[in-house]
Parts: sequence; structure tokens; C-alpha cells
Amino acid sequence: MEFRRINSLPPYVFATINDLRDIGRRDGRDVIDMGFGNPDLPSPDVAVEKLAEAVRNPRNHRYSASRGIPKIRQAIADLYLRKFEVELDPETEVVTTIGAKEGLSHLMWVLVGPGDTALVPSPSYPIHIYAPLFAGADVRHVRLDSPGAENGGSPGEAFFDNLMEAWESAWPKPRVVVLSFPHNPTTECVDLAWMARLVEFAKEHDIVLVHDFAYADIAFDGYTPPSILQVPGAKDVAVELYTLTKSFSMAGWRVGFMVGNAAIVQALTKLKSYLDYGTFQPIQIAAIVAMNEAPDYPKLINETYQARRDALCDGLNRIGWEITPPRGTMFVWAPIPEPYGEMGSLEFSKFLVKEADVATSPGVGFGPGGDGHVRFALIENEQRIGQGVRSLRKALTKLT
Ligand SMILES: Cc1ncc(COP(=O)(O)O)c(C=O)c1O
Repeated sequence: MEFRRINSLPPYVFATINDLRDIGRRDGRDVIDMGFGNPDLPSPDVAVEKLAEAVRNPRNHRYSASRGIPKIRQAIADLYLRKFEVELDPETEVVTTIGAKEGLSHLMWVLVGPGDTALVPSPSYPIHIYAPLFAGADVRHVRLDSPGAENGGSPGEAFFDNLMEAWESAWPKPRVVVLSFPHNPTTECVDLAWMARLVEFAKEHDIVLVHDFAYADIAFDGYTPPSILQVPGAKDVAVELYTLTKSFSMAGWRVGFMVGNAAIVQALTKLKSYLDYGTFQPIQIAAIVAMNEAPDYPKLINETYQARRDALCDGLNRIGWEITPPRGTMFVWAPIPEPYGEMGSLEFSKFLVKEADVATSPGVGFGPGGDGHVRFALIENEQRIGQGVRSLRKALTKLT
């Protein structure tokens, strides 16, 4: 049968590693799974209890509002004020989404179509590439390479230059730039001044900035990731996706938001009113309770990820796999060590799961720009991370 849109999708390389993990486990091997970024930590108790209570009320069994009930839009406006000192009008500048992924995907339908161009970082979280493609747009991949602060460059500097270059050479001129910092998979982080420069550029050239802020709360060593809306005047050109997935460890609940530019928020609201009836209302009610009554939960989650980051990075460095610890996200983006570099990331990931019983995500799954790396997700506890490092040491006998 012939289909539309999905024909050009490449094979899902992460599935190859998952299959090998499952085969290993079926054979009785204890595979440490640091592949998929699927949070293992529990959601806040208050949210779980509220969900159990709200689900018993038949009034909550009906269709809900696709843009989110008023109190959830108010709760996210309160969170933005509390956390970022950003004022949002819950009526016009907030729409609830079924997670950031759904929000970003449908947002592209209203922002771009055939004949339009979007600039997307390379490597990238896959939907950042495929959402504009599904919407019919042309995607230009912009290298996110950065010398990084540790090498004397300032974070994001190379990406900024690459973006400018891509914009100059593109025709038609790109309508949209997709951003996401702290960045999955590279863990790259930027500061507010960096965001401000981009906002200025976007205003000059009539570009929409879409900032996926999935790792808003996952940051270490005193670093606080900026919201793009903290840049004065950013609402003229920018929208931001915030999600409870990582911050509150509520991945399966599918609660996210898009906030910022009112015209864009209204455009997505209109489209979504045709597409869905919103997240199940008891979940919305429980999400309100999470945001209002467990505002410090993200800090607890963050402490756990920081301890795991330290366990993994210290361990890898100890066995001779040199890693710069990330300042944000729940990932470690690890350059393939020598002499294994020539294997490429898919073969190297396969080798790790087969020989070391450690599952990682091959960098190539995030686009060709990711092929020199594998990504570890910090979703195993410290003890199991230690076990993983020990078996990596045994498998990587040729480590130089
Ligand atoms: C950059 C980025 N955006 C969005 C998501 C998914 O967020 P949600 O669960 O809210 O759809 C992830 C999950 O890994 C992510 O890494």
C-alpha cells in the first residue's frame, strides 16, 4: 500500500539497540539500559493522590478543553512568574499541549508549509527535524558544534555563527528557527545574553523562534537555564514549550504547555480545537496540584540526576573514556573513544550492548551530525551506573 509522509522516514536506529537489549535480557543478561530518555523516578505523590481522587468524579469523565482548563493555564502562568519572573496572560499566551512533543509537532502545521524553510540544530531531538518536515517545509540542518567554554570558546557561539550563515545562504528565507537549551542530545547550554542576540536577529528578519525548554529544570553546578521569554520583547517573536515530563518526572501523563507570542498561541489553540479534546481532565487537575503544591519537586529530581551524572562521568573518566560533565539535561553525550571511532555510532552502540550489556543511544539517531557520539540517559541508579562502568571497562580493552 502507498502512504504519504512516512515514506522518507529513516529506519528507527534506537529500535535496533532496544531489540538487542531485549534479546540480552531474554538470554538472562542484566543489561543496564541508558538508551531511551524515559524517566524512572516517580511522579510527585500529591499529583498521584489528586489523580486518584479526581478520576472518581464522573464530571471529569467528559471531554475537557483542548487548550486546557482555566486553572491549569493559570498554574503555568504562576510557575513562569515564580521561576522566571515572566508574566503570561493565561487567556491569550498559554495553551496546554499533550506533552511538548505534540505541541511542537502541531505548532509546525500553523507556522510552516510547502515552500517554507526551517532552521534546525544538528544533531537534534528527532521531532525537531521531523515536525517541520511533516508540515511540508524544507529543513536546513545547522551544526551545533561548539568549542565549548572548556576549550576557550563561549557556549553556543559556533551555533550562533552557523545559524547566521545558514540564514544568509538560504532561499526562501527561513521562517522558523528551532532551539532547545539545555540541548538533547549534545547537552549544550546557553545564557540569556545568547538568547537576547538571537531574539534581536529574529526581530530584524521576521523569524519565529521556537524554544523547546524540556530541560528547564535539569541543570547542575549552579547553572540556571534561561527561558527565552526572559529576554525583554521576546514575546514579539518567540514561543516556548515547557513540560512536566522531566521537571516533575511525569512523562506518561502527557502534560506540556506552549507559552509566549499571543498570535502564535492562538493559532495553535485554533488548530488543536479541531484535532483533540485535550488531556484527560483528572490529569490536568493533578498537574495543577503538582505545579502548585510540589514546586520544589524539580529540585529533588535534579539532585538525583546530578548524582548520577557524577557517578557516570567520574566512572568513565576513571576507565580512560574522557568525558566533560554536562551542565544540563539528563544525558551524557560521549564522544566515541579511540580506537573505536571508525566504527560509527550505530556499530559502537551495538558493540556496547552486546559486549558490555550497556544500552546507549547511537548519535546518528539524532541526525548525521551526531554520528561521532553515543548518548547515555541517566535513568539507572548510581549503583547500576557503577555496574555499567565496570562492564564497560572490561569490554573496552583497547581504550587508548
Ligand atoms: C528536547 C525534548 N523535547 C521534548 C521531549 C518530550 O517531551 P514531552 O514528554 O513533554 O512530549 C523530550 C523528551 O525526551 C526532549 O528531549
